[in-house]
Amino acid sequence: MTVQFSLGSTAPESTATPVAVVGVYENGILTSAAARIDTAAGGLIKRLVEAGDVTGKIGNVVTLLHPAGVTAARVLVVGLGAQKTFDSARYQRVTLEAARAIGRLPVTEAASWLPEVDVPGRDAAWKLRVAALATDHVAYRYTATVKPRDAKAQPDLAAITFAGPADAEGGLGQARAIAAGVRFARELGNLPPNICNPNYIAEQARAFADSHEGVSFEALGRADMEREGFGSLLAVARGSANEPRLVILQWNGGKDGERPYAFVGKGITFDTGGISLKPGAGMEEMKFDMGGAAGVLGAFVAAVEMKLPVNLVCVVPAVENMPDGDAYRPGDVLTSLAGITIEVLNTDAEGRLILCDALTYTGKRFDPHTLIDAATLTGACVVALGKHASGLMTKDESLSAELLAAGEETLDRAWRLPLWDDYQVQLESTFADVANIGGKYAGAITAGCFLARFTEGRRWAHLDIAGTAWDEGRKGLATGRPVPLLAQWLLDRVAG
Ligand code: BES
Ligand code: MN
Ligand code: ZN
Repeated sequence: MTVQFSLGSTAPESTATPVAVVGVYENGILTSAAARIDTAAGGLIKRLVEAGDVTGKIGNVVTLLHPAGVTAARVLVVGLGAQKTFDSARYQRVTLEAARAIGRLPVTEAASWLPEVDVPGRDAAWKLRVAALATDHVAYRYTATVKPRDAKAQPDLAAITFAGPADAEGGLGQARAIAAGVRFARELGNLPPNICNPNYIAEQARAFADSHEGVSFEALGRADMEREGFGSLLAVARGSANEPRLVILQWNGGKDGERPYAFVGKGITFDTGGISLKPGAGMEEMKFDMGGAAGVLGAFVAAVEMKLPVNLVCVVPAVENMPDGDAYRPGDVLTSLAGITIEVLNTDAEGRLILCDALTYTGKRFDPHTLIDAATLTGACVVALGKHASGLMTKDESLSAELLAAGEETLDRAWRLPLWDDYQVQLESTFADVANIGGKYAGAITAGCFLARFTEGRRWAHLDIAGTAWDEGRKGLATGRPVPLLAQWLLDRVAG
């Protein structure tokens, strides 16, 4: 369950709560909430600044227990860094730090005045939404397959009140919907590949449709896709004992007959590389290779929770990439649903092979107004942009601007890479219309160029989320990106 968010407008010094959260900048500059607590408590915070306990630096968090003159049982004094350079990204960082500090306390409720701080260019609704999403992000626990390790672990935060004006309540409403979508995506991502297989993804989508009015669900199986001619997708699926699925969710919140927006997400539930087998070290991380699927499903969940007045379709090719006696191999030539033949030069470049058929199908069947895919497509994208930005590729200038803006707005940022036809020569093949890899240079772009061949004439963009869909390492969790970006993009379409 997501954390319960509510809006409050009481004074920080006289609010009954297990913990009141206030901010302090560097050099002892108190926010107005901190100043009120300080005054009520007879200068306690200023004395802590003098003593050097409260530094105002990012990451400096001091807990005051039962300060005299203050109603709250605790006050959490959170460092905001230098006031002069305070900005949107820092605000998000601070709300994350505050949520972590709350998580270490034995409380299930809290009240925060952080949304009252000034953030250049941002309004109250934005500040509330970011604080709420940061809090829910930190409060999320993966428990599906693991026992709580520490019997004395602190209880989970259940509810938090944020200070803000009543007319900004909408920010919390959006946060509730987006948090639900983010949680949906993170849970699918974190589940192990022996549970979260193609059919499991389909069943989760079905369960969502069954519990939400106005959502329709379909899933194609192997026989359906054979009939339709998904020759590229089915080749990838051949090595796996898990049957592939093409999951389709529809939400018709818009006008009848209005062209839908369409999301397509890469749903490789495990990527061994196939016959072009990946090295063993770190291979378990390839359970996250369905991050694109999780991301578009999560954005769909958020859109439905907000009951957005748009027509939206979400298409997820869900496939496992395994080596096997019957697996597809390097050298194979596949005939895609579009009729374009593909020479397989590496079975580990499988994402584009399932996406091309899903994109063709989505384009033909739904004729979408705009088509956006998300995929953990290339290690090259991680080399280029690291873990902070998703790679954005599109030939459409206005769509590029829309998606970059949605990323900035949510701090779920993307950065554009070129999709110039100059790169297309790298995909030329002697034996087929196109090869599935483009050599050692510009691997993220040549993957995008491959997909571009299947979306010609459409308003289409590709998000490579290989670096952003999960946090690296043994303890890394799915992030839920790019749910915030995609949900915001839809919100912006509605706002006009
Ligand atoms: N799922 C991987 C991409 C990936 C790698 C995502 C590492 C996140 C971290 C994809 O299917 C893949 O294996 N891509 C290959 C493409 C290559 C064979 C052209 C890659 O990036 O190495
Ligand atoms: Mn691969
Ligand atoms: Zn992959």
